[in-house]
Amino acid sequence: MEKHAITHSHISAQPRFHQRVGEIQPYGTVNHALPLELEEPVRLEMTEQLNQLLADTITLRDLYKKSHWQVAGPTFYQLHLLFDKHYGEQGEMVDSIAERIQALGGVSLAMAADVAETTKIERPPRGREEVPVQLSRLIDAHQVIIRQVRILARRAAQLSSGMTARTTLL
Ligand SMILES: [Fe+2]
Repeated sequence: MEKHAITHSHISAQPRFHQRVGEIQPYGTVNHALPLELEEPVRLEMTEQLNQLLADTITLRDLYKKSHWQVAGPTFYQLHLLFDKHYGEQGEMVDSIAERIQALGGVSLAMAADVAETTKIERPPRGREEVPVQLSRLIDAHQVIIRQVRILARRAAQLSSGMTARTTLL
């Protein structure tokens, strides 16, 4: 009974402010020995590629929100609603990609500054642009992602068949 009380005396309801200690896992690494039947080099390569995809998808998502806020002109109402719908859909994909990276034992990119340094999508100006330019930027951003996803899917299939071949040999 007394021992129990001693253990709990270390716990305080007072929040501890300004806590800063080292990371528990650095960016660009994967956990060892996860029971996924996926070798570490494969998980390392895939999490790196998925983080590129994540940075571009976050950028596309935010480009939809920028367009949603800044759109002007006779088609304002329809586009305002449409852009926000796509913002939501891209947001769901962002979460799926980020959580897949974590499930593979990696670390997901998250913050705007890191995303800005990583994305391959062209940076738009801060100011408002006309509708055809907004749409054009969105199409270009989708194209960047589609190109990359095709390469990534092929590479994942290649790694997967490589592993199957090795397993068959064993
Ligand atoms: Fe809104």
